[in-house]
Amino acid sequence: MTDGGSEPAADGGSESSAGVEAGGPPVRRLADWNAGELRTLAGEYGTPLYVLDLDRVRENYRRLAAAFPDAELLYAAKANALGDVLETLLAEGAGIECASAGELERALAAGAPGESLHYTAVNPPARDLEYAVDVAADHPRLTVVAGATDTIDRLGERGYDGRLALRVNPGVGAGHHEKVRVGADAKFGVPYDRAVEVLADAAGRGFDVVGLHAHVGSGVSGEALEAHREFVSRMGELARTVERELGGLEFLDVGGGFGVPYRDDEESLDLAAVAEATREALGGVDARLTVEPGRYLVADAGVLLTRVNTVKEAPGTTVVGVDAGMTTLARPAMYDAVHAIRSLEPDASGRERRPETVTGPICEGSDVLCRDRPLPASERGDLLAIGNAGAYGYEMASVYNSRPRPASVVVDGVESRLARRRETVADVTRPERAATEPRD
Ligand code: LLP
Repeated sequence: MTDGGSEPAADGGSESSAGVEAGGPPVRRLADWNAGELRTLAGEYGTPLYVLDLDRVRENYRRLAAAFPDAELLYAAKANALGDVLETLLAEGAGIECASAGELERALAAGAPGESLHYTAVNPPARDLEYAVDVAADHPRLTVVAGATDTIDRLGERGYDGRLALRVNPGVGAGHHEKVRVGADAKFGVPYDRAVEVLADAAGRGFDVVGLHAHVGSGVSGEALEAHREFVSRMGELARTVERELGGLEFLDVGGGFGVPYRDDEESLDLAAVAEATREALGGVDARLTVEPGRYLVADAGVLLTRVNTVKEAPGTTVVGVDAGMTTLARPAMYDAVHAIRSLEPDASGRERRPETVTGPICEGSDVLCRDRPLPASERGDLLAIGNAGAYGYEMASVYNSRPRPASVVVDGVESRLARRRETVADVTRPERAATEPRD
């Protein structure tokens, strides 16, 4: 759904040329989206509206697969668990990494075969473990990734002795914000120095120990490649120790984290260089390499459309109120994340640019999508697009302020269809009403 750069970028974004290499161009900027088509979708389905282009998801997957030809590729469903996304990536040959029972359920509903599923249990609630153990009974090739000895014990107590991988805390973190640099966060994984002992114990108790896992963090950019290399090298060393002391492993999963450019002046990740650095840092390990990115596959396949409802001149800035906010896209409020914003109005490029602060309808100061950003002067009723909304957009949406979550549309080639209807207040209050209804 690109216009090949024929329409000038209203936000000054770059206009990348149409890609011819396998996997399409390495980055799709907000300016590359076809404004007319987005206007039509907003007219048809209303705003705020998530739009996801499945062809772009396919391109991203193919580019990743070309860079890591020998690796197993899992998609981290937490980035965007929409059924259409899961189905699209399964059809491309990806496996699915699930962070919860809910994601497992959605992956199975999308047709994922058991052997393509990894369940990464992070302090798993009992019902998640019970669900995973039930799934494993029907799908014995499911892999459970445990990050604490308690989790292994709790699996054992539930009669599970199937495929088990150990999540290790590598002691090295990287990523776009401190909240997502989890590689050195004690919450995740067993301490590096205890990994061999924990694996030996699990194997001794009859678990089918198949792999090692770690995740350095999310949104790792080119500059953090050195930290990534150190992380992979530590994991390679650990895998060699395990192979020497306990025997072979099926896979070494180095997690996800591949960054995407959010700012127009940011370069895209040189995937070939990352793959090369990963292979080099890994050294000689017999286990197959597994990677499990989320963001890289879906971020630039999605935009969020929102309409301006208020324009207010204020000292030093113009406040532009829109119908999407921190409940629709939490990333700016939560991580100070920068998302490109583009006016989709046909005359936008002719408008004067001025610093605008784009805010949502939530009664809280953190409900800001950008501050003082030079944008073509917005007017009430204008349509704006917010870029890179395909990853951690809808997934992190909430119903704070009793604000129902938006609709999602997928574009598949020349077709587009509603993938998830807009919620209503009745959807938000249903559990509350159900609690007081008489039970039969
Ligand atoms: N594997 C594991 C075990 C993870 O915890 C994550 C992300 C991934 C894979 C995928 O990471 P990715 O390739 O998408 O960077 N909400 C934050 C990101 C949180 C990521 C959590 N874990 C954001 O919007 O930036």
